[in-house]
Amino acid sequence: MESRTRNLADEALTQAVRASFENAESTRLRVILDSLVRHLHGFLTEVELTENEWLDGIKFLTDTGQITDERRQEFVLLSDVLGASMLVIVLNHRVEGTATESTVFGPFFVEGAPLFENGDDIANGAPGEVCAVSGRVLSTEGEPIAAARIDIWQADDAGKYDVQYDDLTDARGRGHLYSDPKGRFWFQTIRPTSYSIPTDGPVGRLLQAAGRSPMRPAHIHFRVAADGYETLTTHVFVAGDPFLDMDAVFGVKDSLVAPFAASADARCTVEYDFVLARKSRSARSRMPRPTSPDTR
Ligand code: BEZ
Ligand code: FE
Repeated sequence: MESRTRNLADEALTQAVRASFENAESTRLRVILDSLVRHLHGFLTEVELTENEWLDGIKFLTDTGQITDERRQEFVLLSDVLGASMLVIVLNHRVEGTATESTVFGPFFVEGAPLFENGDDIANGAPGEVCAVSGRVLSTEGEPIAAARIDIWQADDAGKYDVQYDDLTDARGRGHLYSDPKGRFWFQTIRPTSYSIPTDGPVGRLLQAAGRSPMRPAHIHFRVAADGYETLTTHVFVAGDPFLDMDAVFGVKDSLVAPFAASADARCTVEYDFVLARKSRSARSRMPRPTSPDTR
C-alpha cells in the first residue's frame, strides 16, 4: 500500500498534511485546518525559513506563553499588534446602517468590575483631570434602549490600567452601570491619556525590532449589552490625540473619535451615543468554503 506519510517533500508534503485532516468530524474544523496548512506551508516556502529562524519563532511563542498569566495576556497583545484582532472584528461586525463600530477588546478587561449608579465617579481615586461622560444607548431606528449594561474601563493619567499596579486591590477607572428608561447614561471619570502597550515582553521586543511605536491614542473602553441586540465592544477616542493615526493595534475608526471639550465650568466633558444592531434571528451561519488544491 502506498504510504501517506513517507518520502514527502515540497508540494507533496503539503498535500499529505492537508489530506491527513480530511476526515475531521467537523466540516468547519476541516476547512480551517486545510487553510491553515496551505498558508503555513506557503509562508515557510516563500520566505525559505532557516532552522535557526524556526527555532527563534518557537522561542518567541514560548516566551509569549510564559509571560502570560491571569493579569497579563501577551497572546492577545500579539494578535493586536499583528492586526489579527482587528481583522477578526471587521469580518464579524460588518457595520449595519448607523450601528456603532466595534474595535479591539484589548487585554485589560476584568470580569466582575463594580456596579455604579448613573452620576457616580468610576475613577475611584485614579489620578487625572476630572471628566464628565454622558450619552444614550439607541437602536438603529433611534429608539432608546433602557437597562443596557455598559461596562467601562480606562487607563489613568500615567497611562496605566488598575490591573497594571502591583499594589492595587480596588477597581480604579473601571465599572459597569445601566442605561436609564430613556436610554441615557452618565458618569464621572478622568480624562484618558495616550499610553504605551506593555513593552517588557516578547511583543515589545518585536515592536522595537520593527521600529514600531507601542503607543495607543487616548480612549475609554466600552462594552454595551442589551437583550435582543448584538453586544458592542468599542472605544471612544479623544479627538486631537497625536497617536490617532499611528495606533499600535490598528483600532481607530473616525466614527469613534469624539471631542473631550471643556464645559462652561472648564471641566472636561464628552457626549457619545452608542447605537446597537438588533440580534439577527438565527446566528449567521458560516458556510465552509470549498478550497481547490491550487488556492494558495
Ligand atoms: C487597550 O486598549 O487596552 C489595549 C488594546 C490592545 C493592546 C493593548 C492594550
Ligand atoms: Fe485601552
